Amino acid sequence: MSAAPLNQPLSRPDPTLPVGMFDSGVGGFTVLRELKKVLPNERVVYFGDTANIPYGDKPPQLIRSWAKNMIAFLLQKGVKAVTIACNISSSVLTPEDLAEVPVPVFGLVYNGAAAALQATKNSRIGVIATVATVETNSYGKTIRSFNPHVEVTQSACPKFVPFTEHGVFEGDKVEEAVREYVAPLKAKGVDTVIYGCTHYPLLEKAIKSHLDGVQMIDPAVEIVEELAAYLHTNDFLYSGKPQDDTIYASDLNEYFFANAERFLNLDIRPLAQEVKLNRSE
Ligand code: DGL
Repeated sequence: MSAAPLNQPLSRPDPTLPVGMFDSGVGGFTVLRELKKVLPNERVVYFGDTANIPYGDKPPQLIRSWAKNMIAFLLQKGVKAVTIACNISSSVLTPEDLAEVPVPVFGLVYNGAAAALQATKNSRIGVIATVATVETNSYGKTIRSFNPHVEVTQSACPKFVPFTEHGVFEGDKVEEAVREYVAPLKAKGVDTVIYGCTHYPLLEKAIKSHLDGVQMIDPAVEIVEELAAYLHTNDFLYSGKPQDDTIYASDLNEYFFANAERFLNLDIRPLAQEVKLNRSE
């Protein structure tokens, strides 16, 4: 896979600047976690739009305008690249929107689709995602633009984001929801399933237990690989000592902190600030 951003950056980024990242909430922590594994020296400025979560049941144009606001906010803070850690934002932002961004932008859908195509042996790929991402059919379109003979089955999983945002990762309700959502994928005999929402790897244990023998694709792995290759090839990697990240959220609630502790192994209280971006009223 080539380390190409989704846009043509207008300026040469300053390698000492942090990497910008955003999501509707804590889902992007799965991308942040991956980034820290691969690029431990890079500083990150993260925005989680927790006041508006879930995005998955909102109209695409509203999500698009919120995503554009978050990119503008990150640019204003000074970032050398933007990582869209949200599949629905990746699905609704247009090439024209991204052309206006002066720094390289990396998205999830292209990367996830390419990885799934490499992994599948029977040409049957499943996608679990939010209602909004399924409705855009972004994964289906991207996969079939690479190979029209692949069968793509998508399943919307509206309960998963509320579970994870409220710290519920196991139990009867989770099991019941997972069983219901993976049933159409099993019926189609998929051998590969894409986490089409960055929140879903937080439920990995429950999801995998119902998809025995199926290869799971987490686009977070591919997006970070691509970002790392791009920064490396262009000599934009930060070579100084690791510095603290900055975490912004539109609603800094207790679950946000607890999820950071659980999945990033980090007390983000000293790094976190509340910013009222994307007011929906
Ligand atoms: N985590 C986001 C995604 O990857 C969206 C979750 C939501 O707010 O519905 O699509």
